[in-house]
Amino acid sequence: MGRSLGTPGAVPDGAFTHEPSGTKFEIRSTAAGLQQSFTRGQESASYPVAYAIGSGNHAFGYLVRIGDHLFQSPLSYYTQRRLWDVAPGYEQAGAPDFSRPVTPECLSCHSGHARPVANTLNRYQNPPFESETISCDRCHGPVEAHLQRPVPGSILNPARLPAAARDSVCEQCHLAGEIRIPNPGHSLSDFVPGEPAEDVFTVYVGGNANQGLKVISHSEQLALSRCARSSGGKLWCGTCHDPHAPARATHADYRERCLACHAATLSAAHAAPTQDCVTCHMPRLPARDGGHTVFTDHRIARNPSIPPLPETAGLRAWREPPAAFRERNLALALATHGLENGISDEAVRGFKLLSRMEPQLSTDAAALTALGSILLTAKEAKEAEKRFARALALRPEYAPYEVNLANALLESGDRAGAIEHLNHALALDPLLEQAAESLARAYRSQGEAEKAEQVLQNYRTAMGITVRK
Ligand code: HEC
Ligand code: HEC
Ligand code: HEC
Ligand code: HEC
Ligand code: HEC
Ligand code: HEC
Repeated sequence: MGRSLGTPGAVPDGAFTHEPSGTKFEIRSTAAGLQQSFTRGQESASYPVAYAIGSGNHAFGYLVRIGDHLFQSPLSYYTQRRLWDVAPGYEQAGAPDFSRPVTPECLSCHSGHARPVANTLNRYQNPPFESETISCDRCHGPVEAHLQRPVPGSILNPARLPAAARDSVCEQCHLAGEIRIPNPGHSLSDFVPGEPAEDVFTVYVGGNANQGLKVISHSEQLALSRCARSSGGKLWCGTCHDPHAPARATHADYRERCLACHAATLSAAHAAPTQDCVTCHMPRLPARDGGHTVFTDHRIARNPSIPPLPETAGLRAWREPPAAFRERNLALALATHGLENGISDEAVRGFKLLSRMEPQLSTDAAALTALGSILLTAKEAKEAEKRFARALALRPEYAPYEVNLANALLESGDRAGAIEHLNHALALDPLLEQAAESLARAYRSQGEAEKAEQVLQNYRTAMGITVRK
């Protein structure tokens, strides 16, 4: 985990075409560093890579910096196949480019604390994080006392915490779930080791049975194991993994961890109990590319052949938050996850729950935004407008909220109002793609094609995209 993010290391040059979109990509190492470029139709751009993400065990991801903004690169280098391809999530993209914002959430799992500019989507101070690597306090909480007097007991020991708080230390990064919902007034990065994660946010796992399961995390798999279920909370990530170990653990090391519990209980009939245990009980799963894949089966099954994953229907809390937020967090998870993944019955369920609670949600910008978004999808523009306006009043000058409100105004026919909010959004954040696209649409809808083209041209200029005439 000491190599989770950093300046890009040596990788071969490359070039390929993403067929679904007809985008040509080129990657070159130059004296100034790694350079990535794309050409699609008349548009092209070239960006120096600011950071690489990952140790490259399987893949490297990349971030580019434009002004004080960070964006994801659509490119990954796959170390085992030794080739360049689009990053996970861009396979079917219609226009894979460098415009996806890097949110503090992404950085908070891959670096020490991110340093975002307040009230922005993806603008950061310089440097963008307190440390590139994962710092001690991410697992130990505040470490000042320990640094002043580095003696045993002067630092919080995660292994000695109650089970939920202990597991939360690893889960903050190793359990993304389907969606994570911060409690009202919190952001994900407020989590401090020592408390259970649900004091700050709830992780929802599972998902819609129709959509199939996404990646089942290490935490979810381990929880399915008999070892975890029958050991009364004793088994946790730290039983087998030592984040401080200088070298990778060997299968002989893991065997010792197994025998700490199993030496006495292993039946005499067991096949060759002296061999390494993980080859049979924790086999490698079929290899898949991608950033967030489990490679080793953490279900520790009796039968070495891989058992099927359980069918789950709907989202469920990994651990429930305090009762006061239970319904609100679930409703918000259903609404947001349903919207983001196009699962309409899920979004509708979330919407109904949120609507029922609406009188209590008047200061809850996230809930109001979810309500507005679903209303807008259902073409209830006037009703959406009210929720978005309230969210914006709660979080003034937040460019994405200006865009939400403008989109509702546009839908209900108030073009002038929409244009005003979109211009304000672009003044706040000239690199906000959705603002530029909405504004261009607004101008076009009132027959002002030239103005629309100018808006898009300004956006391309800000993003460093040139258009061949
Ligand atoms: C909830 C925490 C979390 C978030 C959010 C997250 N990651 Fe990850 N990422 C991980 C963990 C943990 C791993 C290691 C593999 C694993 O256990 O899933 C990983 C692995 C990766 C890898 C593969 C590294 C390798 O060595 O093969 C890449 C690339 C990556 N992440 C990129 C990203 C990018 C880009 C974002 C933001 C858009 C992001 N991740 C968001 C936790 C996260
Ligand atoms: C701040 C985020 C964060 C926290 C907290 C965290 N991890 Fe990780 N961990 C990562 C990331 C990111 C990677 C992937 C690193 C890479 O690919 O370079 C990773 C990788 C790992 C790996 C794989 C290492 C390898 O060499 O393949 C193990 C095992 C692991 N973590 C265990 C743990 C345990 C146990 C805890 C809790 C005590 C924990 N992690 C807490 C972010 C975190
Ligand atoms: C990814 C999580 C993680 C990170 C990052 C991490 N540690 Fe730890 N550390 C642990 C865990 C888990 C234990 C408990 C091991 C055990 O007792 O089984 C531990 C134990 C310790 C202990 C022994 C505590 C005691 O009560 O005996 C010290 C000291 C320590 N870590 C210091 C540090 C320092 C200094 C850093 C930063 C350089 C750091 N750790 C980074 C997870 C982490
Ligand atoms: C913290 C203690 C603990 C550790 C460490 C542990 N287990 Fe277990 N394991 C258990 C308990 C308890 C059971 C349930 C035994 C029972 O019900 O008789 C179990 C059950 C099992 C089973 C039977 C599963 C089933 O579905 O019936 C297998 C196989 C197994 N463990 C293998 C392993 C292997 C391999 C390791 C090391 C990689 C390991 N265990 C580490 C506690 C542990
Ligand atoms: C019973 C032992 C055991 C426990 C408990 C355990 N792991 Fe593992 N883990 C392993 C083994 C064995 C490997 C494979 C190591 C290898 O091949 O070098 C592994 C590999 C990993 C990897 C590297 C990627 C992969 O899938 O191979 C990550 C990340 C990881 N574990 C995270 C976790 C997290 C997070 C937890 C707690 C939820 C956890 N592990 C609990 C035994 C364990
Ligand atoms: C050659 C493959 C293989 C290896 C190596 C292996 N196991 Fe097993 N193990 C199995 C199979 C197969 C079963 C299921 C037997 C059955 O269902 O009758 C099993 C069953 C178990 C069980 C269930 C209860 C019992 O005693 O039968 C435990 C616990 C267990 N293994 C732990 C371990 C541990 C710990 C190690 C390492 C010291 C280990 N196994 C090494 C194949 C293996």
